[in-house]
Amino acid sequence: MNSQGCFITVEGGEGAGKTTNMTFIKQCLDNWEVPYIHTREPGGTELAEQIRELLLNKRDEKVAPTAELLLVFAARAQHLAEVIIPALQQGKVVLCDRFTDATYAYQGGGRQLDVSLIQDLEQRVQGTLRPDLTLLLDVSIETGMARAGQRGELDRFEQENIAFFNRVREAYLARAAEYPQQFAIIDAGKSLNEVQKQIKSVLAKRLNISNE
Ligand SMILES: Nc1ncnc2c1ncn2[C@@H]1O[C@H](COP(=O)(O)OP(=O)(O)O)[C@@H](O)[C@H]1O
Ligand SMILES: [Mg+2]
Repeated sequence: MNSQGCFITVEGGEGAGKTTNMTFIKQCLDNWEVPYIHTREPGGTELAEQIRELLLNKRDEKVAPTAELLLVFAARAQHLAEVIIPALQQGKVVLCDRFTDATYAYQGGGRQLDVSLIQDLEQRVQGTLRPDLTLLLDVSIETGMARAGQRGELDRFEQENIAFFNRVREAYLARAAEYPQQFAIIDAGKSLNEVQKQIKSVLAKRLNISNE
């Protein structure tokens, strides 16, 4: 756990509303005058954003799942060292669009890599650092894909098949069941207004703010 700061991650499948609701979360923190930084994974530093491009770009070459996993953790190691840990040490809230739970969902669930390999890397790269709160935006694959499809061209992950996305969703829900203290499951199939009401209430509670 983090002695200072608060590490909040937003997770969910494609089109669940992570990016949209991140803007809303930032507005809440601004209103409550809570100092924060906002970042994302894979990415968050110049080097890590370059690794993000390597991961998301469509390519003819088949990407070995283990290579994908190591790239994810390479980006994460850089992001932690340069951005996340310093901000937490300054007592800030760190808001991150995706983190290691996405690795369990996509590389563990989606790609069906050995979970113990992910656990080993998590331990090596993060030590004991884990998110204090994870908002899991859960939505049906159909709804998520319909929403993501409106954004334009699909990236290397978005062009995966339904079975892959089902495994991702199931892996996320299994993580949430395993770590109920960390996770808040948000029903992201509801209207944006409803979703944001749920998010605001969870955030206020966690940050000890009276939710007016
Ligand atoms: N609760 C919601 N109801 C309807 N549309 C939504 C909702 N949440 C997000 N959207 C829309 O779905 C699309 C994908 O949202 P986005 O935030 O980019 O998802 P993600 O970052 O999780 O992939 C956007 O066009 C967004 O406006
Ligand atoms: Mg997004």
